[in-house]
Amino acid sequence: MLKKPLLASLLSLLLCACTQQAAPPTATQITAAENARPFDTEISAIYQRSCISCHTTISSKAPLVGFAPDWQPRLKQGMDVLIQHVSEGYKAMPAKGFCSDCSNQDFKKLIEFMSTPVAANQA
Ligand code: HEC
Repeated sequence: MLKKPLLASLLSLLLCACTQQAAPPTATQITAAENARPFDTEISAIYQRSCISCHTTISSKAPLVGFAPDWQPRLKQGMDVLIQHVSEGYKAMPAKGFCSDCSNQDFKKLIEFMSTPVAANQA
C-alpha cells in the first residue's frame, strides 16, 4: 500500500539535514534501538506510530533511540527545551513528530524513553 513508499520519500527528504557525530553507532546499537520499546503500553503505541521511523533510522539524522552520545548534548538543554522542540519542530524534526494529539506529558515520557540508554530500558 501507500504507507511505505510515502515514508521512504519522507525519509529521503531528510537526508540533507547533516549533523556530525564523533563515533557512529555500531550495528548492534542500531539493532538494540530498533528493538527497544517503552514499558508503558500507551506510550509504546505512540512511539511506534510516530517516532520510531526516524529515531531508529540513521539516514534520518535523528538522535538514535538509547544511544547516549546522540542524546547527552541534547539533554543538556533541559527537558523543557526538548519538549518545546518536539512540540514546535526543530530543524528536520517535524512539529509534534507526527503525533498531533500528543500532550507535553506524552512528549516528556517519549523523550525519557528515547534518551535512556537501551540497556537500562531492557533491565
Ligand atoms: C520525520 C522524522 C522524525 C519523526 C517522525 C520524529 N523525529 Fe524527532 N528528530 C528528527 C530529527 C531529524 C531530529 C534532529 C534535529 C536536529 O537537531 O537536526 C530530531 C530530534 C529530536 C529531539 C531532540 C531535539 C533537540 O532539541 O535536540 C527530540 C527530543 C525528538 N526528536 C523527539 C521525537 C519524538 C518524541 C517523536 C515522536 C512523537 C519524534 N521525535 C518523531 C526526526 C524525527
